[in-house]
Amino acid sequence: MQRFRIAVLASGRGSNLRALLDAIADGSLAATIVGVFSDKPTCGAIALARDAGLPAVALRPRDYADRDDHDEALFSAVADVQPDLIVCAGYLRIISAASVRRFEGRMLNIHPSLLPKYPGLDTHARALAAGDAEHGASVHVVVPELDAGPLLSQVRIPVEAGDDAAALAARLLPHEHALLRATVSLLAAGRLDIRNTPVTLDGRPLSAPLQLDRSHRLTGA
Ligand code: GRF
Repeated sequence: MQRFRIAVLASGRGSNLRALLDAIADGSLAATIVGVFSDKPTCGAIALARDAGLPAVALRPRDYADRDDHDEALFSAVADVQPDLIVCAGYLRIISAASVRRFEGRMLNIHPSLLPKYPGLDTHARALAAGDAEHGASVHVVVPELDAGPLLSQVRIPVEAGDDAAALAARLLPHEHALLRATVSLLAAGRLDIRNTPVTLDGRPLSAPLQLDRSHRLTGA
């Protein structure tokens, strides 16, 4: 059988890309990364992709007339690698509605908050400012509205006394990685299906996001 084909979109250091590559290497994710795509040629994710010998495409927005033009070029490159799934792993640009629709039901995003709380930026600082007792990360289907698509899975961690945004982000990060690996593994195995609404798990509608437990397993899956 052909391996499940994943394209990764990233703008940052690439630790989520690394987590997916590690999961493929240890056999827990039956998939192939068929390309890494970015708006930032110098980012860590692109460097990691090149080191790993993966196809890597980075297109600077300033080389294009507008957002639609840049998206059209970047997502045409994505289409060329024929992905089964596109994972936005710290891709920091808003994706135009046309490009989201082009890959409808094939694109997910990992976001560092317990959505629907705190879509957008500065999630850790906002959770602290609100006095939240817990914080976390969510994996969701990408729809044109920012960070608003169907929720697939979440991980929760306690906020600790003395946390600042950097400490909270650092403590959350390994759990984000585990969440992304576990969720993408369910997609690659064909158990989680995001192509239609409602999303299904093992053929049944997913009524609430799966929760990652302390041993990094998704409960309910
Ligand atoms: C992660 O915190 C992810 O949730 C957010 O951006 C960060 C990306 O980190 N969307 P990395 O580039 O994967 O290390």
